[in-house]
Amino acid sequence: MVEEIRKVVMNGNFVGWEDAKVHVSTHGLLYGSGVFEGIRAYMDHEGKQLSVFRLKEHVRRMLNNSKILNLKPAIGEKEFADKIVELLRVNNHKTDVYIRPMIYFGAGGIGIRPAKQSTDYFIFSQSMGGYFASVKPLNVCVSSWTRITNNSLPPSAKVTGAYVNSMIASSEAAQSGFDEALFLTQNGYVCEGSGENIFMVKNGVLITPPLSADILEGITRDSVIRLAEDHNIPVVERDISRTELYTCDELFLCGTAAQITPIGSVDRRAVSDGKVGNVTEKLINAFEAVIRGRDGRFASWLTPVYLQMVEKTA
Ligand SMILES: Cc1ncc(COP(=O)(O)O)c(C=O)c1O
Repeated sequence: MVEEIRKVVMNGNFVGWEDAKVHVSTHGLLYGSGVFEGIRAYMDHEGKQLSVFRLKEHVRRMLNNSKILNLKPAIGEKEFADKIVELLRVNNHKTDVYIRPMIYFGAGGIGIRPAKQSTDYFIFSQSMGGYFASVKPLNVCVSSWTRITNNSLPPSAKVTGAYVNSMIASSEAAQSGFDEALFLTQNGYVCEGSGENIFMVKNGVLITPPLSADILEGITRDSVIRLAEDHNIPVVERDISRTELYTCDELFLCGTAAQITPIGSVDRRAVSDGKVGNVTEKLINAFEAVIRGRDGRFASWLTPVYLQMVEKTA
C-alpha cells in the first residue's frame, strides 16, 4: 500500500512519503494534542472521475475542532480543501482513497501546556477499500470500556489522544473474537462504535443516539439521516438502552471508513435473523448511488478531483 503513496503535504509543502516525519518533541506526539479527519474519495460508477465525499463538511469540522484545543492553523477552510484535492491529483489516485489530514501542536518543548509550539498540519492519502475484514454482518460486543465524556476528553472534537479510548475497546473486542466494540456512555446508554456511529431500526423507525450521548457528530450519520428522510423512513434521535440492541429489528454502523456496515449480532445474540435488514439494505443502496455519482440530486456532496475524466483502467 505504501508504495502507491507518492507525496504527503506537510505545512503546505509536498514531501516524499519517507520524508514525512516529525521531531520527537512534537507536542501532538507527546500528548496527543491534534485534531484529525478521515475523508474518502470515490471513483464514479464509470471509473472516470474521483470525487471527495462531503469535503467541505470534513474540513469545516476539523477547523472548528482545532478551536477546542486552541490550535491556530495558518490555513483557511477553502485553502485546506483545495490542498486535499491538489494532493489527490499529485498522487494521481485512480482507486477509492482514504485521506487523513491532521492539525497538531509541533515540536519545541516538554511542557504540557503548549507554549512556543507552532500549529502544524499534514495530509496524506492512500487507497482504501472496505474497512472491516468481514464482509458479512458484524459480530459486535458491548465494550467493558466506557466512552470518554464531553467534559473530560470530548469525543466530538476528534482529538488524536482520545482515540486511545477507541483503540483499547476495539483491540479488546478483537481479542475476544468480535469484529467491533460498542461503547456505552457513563450513564449506561448506547453511544457509538470505536470509529462509527450507530443506528437501530425498530418497528420501521430509524433510531440513533443524540449528540448529547458523547458521540462524534458523524458526517455519514448526517448523510444517512438525509437519505432516510428522502426514502420516507422516519428518523428519531434518542437515547438507546443496551437491552434494545438485543431486541431491535436491524442495527448498523456508519462512518467514513465503515460506510454503512450491518451488524448481525451483539454479545452473541442475533439481530433478528442475523442477515441484512430491509431498511439497512435500502440505505446501503441509496448511499452507494450517491457516492458513485449515480444520484445527481446529491451531486453537491461530491467534489471532483480531476479536471478531465481519467482513462478507464481495464
Ligand atoms: C468515534 C467515531 N464516531 C463516528 C465516526 C463517524 O464519523 P464520520 O461519518 O464523520 O466519519 C467516526 C469516524 O470518523 C469516529 O471516529
